[in-house]
Amino acid sequence: MIVKREFGSVYGKPVYEYVLSNKNQMNVGILTYGATLRTLNVPGKDGRLTDVICGYDDIKSYVEGDGYQGAVVGRYANRIAKGRFTLDGEEYSLFINNGVNSLHGGEYGLNTKLFAVCENDKNNSIVMTAVLEDMEEGYPGRMMVEVTYTLTDDNALKINYRAKSDKKTIINLTNHSYFNLSGYASGSVLYHTLRLDADSYIPTDDTLIPTGEIKSVDGTPFDFRTEKRIGQDFYSEDNDLKIAGGYDHCLNFIGGETEEPVLRAELKDAKSGRVMKVYTDQPCVQLYTANFMNNSAYPFKGGFAQHTQNAVCLETQHMPDSINHDGFTNVVLDAGEEYNYTTVFAFELM
Ligand code: BGC
Repeated sequence: MIVKREFGSVYGKPVYEYVLSNKNQMNVGILTYGATLRTLNVPGKDGRLTDVICGYDDIKSYVEGDGYQGAVVGRYANRIAKGRFTLDGEEYSLFINNGVNSLHGGEYGLNTKLFAVCENDKNNSIVMTAVLEDMEEGYPGRMMVEVTYTLTDDNALKINYRAKSDKKTIINLTNHSYFNLSGYASGSVLYHTLRLDADSYIPTDDTLIPTGEIKSVDGTPFDFRTEKRIGQDFYSEDNDLKIAGGYDHCLNFIGGETEEPVLRAELKDAKSGRVMKVYTDQPCVQLYTANFMNNSAYPFKGGFAQHTQNAVCLETQHMPDSINHDGFTNVVLDAGEEYNYTTVFAFELM
């Protein structure tokens, strides 16, 4: 079932929230602003629904607050060094919004767009579209972006990302939700366990830009191939963790991208009994333990204060700053070529 309601306004236009619910009463709220996942109410072992993502009660916080809460980010999710890249001999420079780098599409990335929505009641899905103009934020190519959210009756939220550009460009799209399976207002996420199908990761410099190295997870805190508590190695003496103040790294899935979404990550919370399985066809995931989530000016839903490590992001994507490193994943999209990836967050009980 899909219910639409108004959620304030931006740019002098109304913002809407679409609430999709399934036969188990699981429901998700999605804003037309940034195609933002605002609420994700999932049943726990006590039979009760709890909202397992951070987010705000009002549109103003989404516009002014940082952290890209729940938003779809792009046209290039993650960082591009000094906001510079070269494509076919042409140099491009992007808006610098993160120290010396460009992050998540620049000043007015996809997370700030008002998406148009087409409802599909039969599939319990909404198709959201936005346009990024040629040279907007410095990127070449007028790009049509289409994000489809589907809520299934077996408690899975499926997100399909499609895009096409009229000129050769670069692209990296993801959803920036912050998860805590006990509920966003329940404290540290370091007690959750995580398994990740990743055998290497990307170390960064102190501006969080890849050094260029692709490093094996063997013997490092980045080895999640066997499930472990997120907190297990969180405070260990590891230079890469220290630089980022926690996990804020791209981990590379074994074998790279796939034809169809496959199971790549499992997040578990013994307290609530919730399990979140992540299926994707993307080659990597940015594991981010909300190391900067501490903006006291923008409390979360119900007035709950922000706190570092109270949630974790699993941003399925391509490698950061790929365009500036040999041997990184291909993020170039040709004119007229279709970009098409899917990530599924599937919920179960332990
Ligand atoms: C980045 C973080 C950044 C966060 C919010 C994440 O994807 O990896 O470094 O602080 O987004 O902006």
